[in-house]
Amino acid sequence: MGEVDRFARGAELAAVLGNWTQGPGPLYLRLTDALATAAGEGAVQPGERLPSERELARSLAVSRATVVSAYSELRDRGVLERRQGSGTRVAARGRPPRDDGRVRGGQGTVIFQRLIDGPGPLISLASAAEDGAPEVADALRDLARHDISGLLADPGYHPRGLPELRQAIAAYYTSLGVPTGAEEVLVTAGAHQALVLVSDVYLRNPSTVVVEAPSWPPCLDIFRAANARLVPVPLDDEGIEARQLSAVLAEHSPGLLYVMPTYHNPAGILMSADRRRRVAELAARHGVAILEDNAYADCGFGDGAEPPPPLAAYTSAAAETITVGSLKAVWGGLRIGWVRGPAGIIERCARRKALADLGSPVIEQALVARLVPRLGEIAERRSALRRERCSLLEGLLREQLPDWSWRSPDGGSSLWVALPEGSADVFAQLALRHGVEVIPGSTMDPTGAHDGYLRVPFMRPPEELAELVRRLAAAWTELRRYGPRDYGPLRPVI
Ligand SMILES: Cc1ncc(COP(=O)(O)O)c(C=O)c1O
Repeated sequence: MGEVDRFARGAELAAVLGNWTQGPGPLYLRLTDALATAAGEGAVQPGERLPSERELARSLAVSRATVVSAYSELRDRGVLERRQGSGTRVAARGRPPRDDGRVRGGQGTVIFQRLIDGPGPLISLASAAEDGAPEVADALRDLARHDISGLLADPGYHPRGLPELRQAIAAYYTSLGVPTGAEEVLVTAGAHQALVLVSDVYLRNPSTVVVEAPSWPPCLDIFRAANARLVPVPLDDEGIEARQLSAVLAEHSPGLLYVMPTYHNPAGILMSADRRRRVAELAARHGVAILEDNAYADCGFGDGAEPPPPLAAYTSAAAETITVGSLKAVWGGLRIGWVRGPAGIIERCARRKALADLGSPVIEQALVARLVPRLGEIAERRSALRRERCSLLEGLLREQLPDWSWRSPDGGSSLWVALPEGSADVFAQLALRHGVEVIPGSTMDPTGAHDGYLRVPFMRPPEELAELVRRLAAAWTELRRYGPRDYGPLRPVI
């Protein structure tokens, strides 16, 4: 039997169903098919209880009759059964379905699925990733012109990373004020794998991870897959809120503190130097390792002020600091990232990297070794476009959705928008019918809070941003005119 009441909130089931409204036929049949597929694939397990008809109707922004008809059809097909006094459940079957590969309670489900499926006809807000920088093509031509026989002179298995790339990454951190040797660097398959390896090293035993709220859903799933318990701490204008952080560290003795100091995803906040100092002090006092994810480090607006150095520059040996980096600002498609940290931790991560894939491809690493020394220059060149796209989106939203609010980001690639009222889970359902896949804020908070928020990426072509806001405005108008009236109070913008 599956876990009981995983879907008591209809929003959890809505996340599993994903883009269920596209396609022909009446709405109730589309819902029927989506639920039947979810049961067939094991995303909802035999014996699991589904939300009540009223709750699911509210979460999907459909009439109760639509859900009643879908449940009834599924009972006729033998997919669901109603048990006296215990609601509607998925029918037990002879052979259990295979595991569907999702993390139970996972919050990155929609984001991962969209990467697997591709965007299709929707404007999907699941990813804030950007197109590749032209410097990648230059570096590739340069690499091809040079003799690569040196690379071919050994078998090419380097689980710690290609020596010249480890050297380049070490020099990059040294230039940022964190003296680093190549032995303190491990090359990974994107920052994503870096996070997987670090959580594998630190979260061997059931452990607690303190995370910012909001945070980045795939990373919450990485911690969940390691069976960690997640404890959220809110943000303010300067980063993770220090007073609450202090209380949480004292109460929970976590195994890790996960933060995004240099351009938080999704809030776009740059952690101040004072706050970095304070976070480092608190981590040292409580003996907690810091995992700083600076995947967006080179995604600033280039407005003169250099970001403070990484948190690693503020910490001593008393607070182990692991820094994760990415080439998001150049091209995520290179799938190269890294971990910077004490040599002993790097060694342990390297063993797990060897277990996972024996090492990242050498040609890509040689290419990236040519790009890392140019990171500052590439970030600077792209910053003008970043600023321009951000203000274009802000202008469109102000004009067409004047009651939505947000704090203008310090950098990054999205706006973290607060709806004036109501739930973004419900709004996401209406937006789908207007051709936009919205990722509601509840998926970015381990407790499901922040459900009145959504992340809107701005690094898209101007025509797409215009169309996006037009569709969002149409969906919002519809929600206000016809939608469920469970609106909550006005909320602050972080
Ligand atoms: C905060 C954060 N960390 C890590 C990653 C993963 O980065 P990569 O593409 O290098 O694996 C992302 C990707 O969006 C991210 O937003």
